[in-house]
Amino acid sequence: MEEKKYDFGMIGLGVMGSNLLLNMADHGFSVIGYDTNPVKTKSLESSATEGTSVKGVNTLEQMISQLKTPRKLMMLVPAGNPVDNVINDLKPLLQKGDIIIDGGNSHYTDTLRRISELKNIGFHFMGMGISGGEEGARKGPSIMPGGDEEAYNEVAPLLKAVSAKVNDQPCVGYLGKDAAGHYVKMVHNGIEYSIMQLLSECYDLMHNGLQMSNEELHQVFKDWDSGEMKSFLIEITASIFDKKDDKTGNSLVDMILDKAGAKGTGKWTSQAGLDLPMPIPAIDAAVMMRNLSSLIEERQEAHSIYNTSLQKIDINKKEFIKLLYDALYFATLISYAQGLAMLTTASFELKMDIPVPEVVSVWRGGCIIRSALLDQFKDAYKNPELKNLLLDGNIAKLLQQKEHAIQKIVSLAALHNYPAAGFMASLNYFNAYRRKLLPTNLIQAQRDFFGAHTYQRIDEPGIFHTEWEQVS
Ligand code: 6PG
Repeated sequence: MEEKKYDFGMIGLGVMGSNLLLNMADHGFSVIGYDTNPVKTKSLESSATEGTSVKGVNTLEQMISQLKTPRKLMMLVPAGNPVDNVINDLKPLLQKGDIIIDGGNSHYTDTLRRISELKNIGFHFMGMGISGGEEGARKGPSIMPGGDEEAYNEVAPLLKAVSAKVNDQPCVGYLGKDAAGHYVKMVHNGIEYSIMQLLSECYDLMHNGLQMSNEELHQVFKDWDSGEMKSFLIEITASIFDKKDDKTGNSLVDMILDKAGAKGTGKWTSQAGLDLPMPIPAIDAAVMMRNLSSLIEERQEAHSIYNTSLQKIDINKKEFIKLLYDALYFATLISYAQGLAMLTTASFELKMDIPVPEVVSVWRGGCIIRSALLDQFKDAYKNPELKNLLLDGNIAKLLQQKEHAIQKIVSLAALHNYPAAGFMASLNYFNAYRRKLLPTNLIQAQRDFFGAHTYQRIDEPGIFHTEWEQVS
């Protein structure tokens, strides 16, 4: 009897890999998963919906021989060396025309290197961002593929079937050349860091500044999630304040060490922003605050030197919560604006042809940064020339309406010793970006003074240098 052949293969059966494969099977595709650990392959098979075609195998050879050709397979393994190791193991087993997808959070420069290495030997390689966590993978993630368009067209029906849907539109689309898929996912994560930082600042100001209980915080975030800013991150934040610790009966959030981890994608976004260069200070502030949070011992020492008390903010609670909502709205808009403007510039500078309006569509459902706000951005990006959301008339109106709130929140935070790096960075960006003239003329004068670096004039074209008076 001829051996059964499968539509799609997955390498790496962690929760994400297994769930995505089960999702594909639920949509009528026959799938095969490979993992060296037999517990994982057995668990994959036993979790499959009845009547679906799901198989687990423990050698790559078994998987490759049972895939329909041209083979379509995805790796979901940790970024870095594991991806190269899998590719090296696959090379002798595959045939020209086979499609390999890296669905992990790989650095985009690694993806660029892998694309050209594999193209030379006849394989299609695609870097693809997937967002939505474990549940998203099972029920419908946001999918960010890029690179080989021919390979994308081959797998598009499957990706569309398994992705999240918003108004019946699949949250997947071809997002540009080369490593565009991983670049877009990296920036997605930078925005994710920024919004998470802003939410933690709201928590700090309400919890410590207004001495609100976790029950009250649960309710505030729940209310916020029913308004214009409805989003996944606000929704889970509301749930977090409702969760009790099994061990102590306290709120679980109160028992968690204040040291934020990071797998690197936020840092990569900041680094890539500096390389372009493109200013993304709200994202940078979020990366910096995670790093600062790890300096636990130093923070204890500094605390004993400065003896800083967390001051109660003396303001009407209702009024403050309204201000905070508007400040969060303002700063969240700025976070998206910075990330999307970075993509617009990267698209051109790195020749990736990223369709930014399509990115906005893909982010509307399934991913960690999904939010009702993205619908407004979709309208703004109907203008294909839009360089930055801040330059859209409707977004400008919104920011102007909420400008006072963020000014007030930032001032209150500063006056009462609260770090509000995300809010402050967002307001600074807004204040600098909308300035016709900045004081950078002085920096140019200083550079020319000590280094003869030259400057341009406001009244005539050309490059100028002045013999400035020497310092005595
Ligand atoms: C997603 C998430 C996902 C992962 C982050 C966490 O879109 O589903 O972004 O990719 O949870 O990598 O990143 P940190 O560990 O750096 O916070």
